[in-house]
Amino acid sequence: MEDRLRSIEDKAIKAVRQAKDQETLEEIKVRFLGRKGILTGILKGLGRLPRQERPKVGKLANEVKVRIERAVRQRLKALEKEAGPKVIKGFDPTLPGRTLPRGHLHPITTVLHKVCSIFERLGFSIAEGPEIELDFYNFEALNIPPDHPARDMQDTFYVDDKVLLRTHTSPIQVRTMEVMKPPIRIIAPGKVYRCDSDVTHTPMFHQVEGLMVDREVSFAHLKGILTHFAQEIFYRDTKVRFRPSFFPFTEPSAEIDIQCVMCRGGGCRVCSDTGWLEVLGAGLVHPQVLRNVGIDTERYSGFAFGLGIERIAMLKYGINDIRLFYDNDLRFLNQF
Ligand code: DAH
Repeated sequence: MEDRLRSIEDKAIKAVRQAKDQETLEEIKVRFLGRKGILTGILKGLGRLPRQERPKVGKLANEVKVRIERAVRQRLKALEKEAGPKVIKGFDPTLPGRTLPRGHLHPITTVLHKVCSIFERLGFSIAEGPEIELDFYNFEALNIPPDHPARDMQDTFYVDDKVLLRTHTSPIQVRTMEVMKPPIRIIAPGKVYRCDSDVTHTPMFHQVEGLMVDREVSFAHLKGILTHFAQEIFYRDTKVRFRPSFFPFTEPSAEIDIQCVMCRGGGCRVCSDTGWLEVLGAGLVHPQVLRNVGIDTERYSGFAFGLGIERIAMLKYGINDIRLFYDNDLRFLNQF
């Protein structure tokens, strides 16, 4: 039996070394080591041998198997090296790969990032606050008492009489000033909610709030920063106009218009022939708002502003229906 195993080994190894290609090698491997192979047959038949012989023959058979396997591996390596890169029928490995479709940021996210990066470069840092907000922060602390008519300006989603979905990002002003001492320079991007829906309103939209509090902060700083912002986000030569307005949390207050980005001031449908588009609300922080958070109004003053991201994105990309942003229609989204 042992002689037989040795002769099988010799034959197998000789055949393996002479194998001219991978197919032949595979055939040889199957012939000796396969499920119905010669060596496998012997290993299977071990049980029929006399008891004393079994361990010795078994051990040898296993060794022979291991040596043949090793020879096959070595030969395969050598053949692969000779053959060079693998060529599979019908497949040309020199062709460029198929590119997978790749997603991109939603246009609102892109504009949000752009807005934030403009202010970050001016030294503002990002602050955040909860979307489910207390009435106190959303209204009361911003100088909007319970019976104030300004509450009618906003169609609020109430959770209960003290809790609501924030209607603007201004509550983050208050939350920031509660925990931070001046100098303060923050912007607060985020989702806001109002019960409203038409071509220019969605129940959820995005705002960015800005706040700067320091010694001797004046309206001139506000003007400079917002003019710079408008020219960065739209065109370098965008004209900016400050119109007197009213917000309970700022005094004086202003609405900021930019020269219409569609007609460049000539008058068109988008700007209702005025040549101007309103893009921002702003003002100097009302002394009462500063007092509400314990900031000394003799020493400090500040400005604040708020802008709508969807509005800016619509103007930037010439989109006439805000709801397109949230329909998730790929034909729309793929254009960005
Ligand atoms: N919170 C205002 C809104 O949602 C926007 C705004 C106006 C924010 C003036 C401000 C500001 O900080 O000073 O309509």
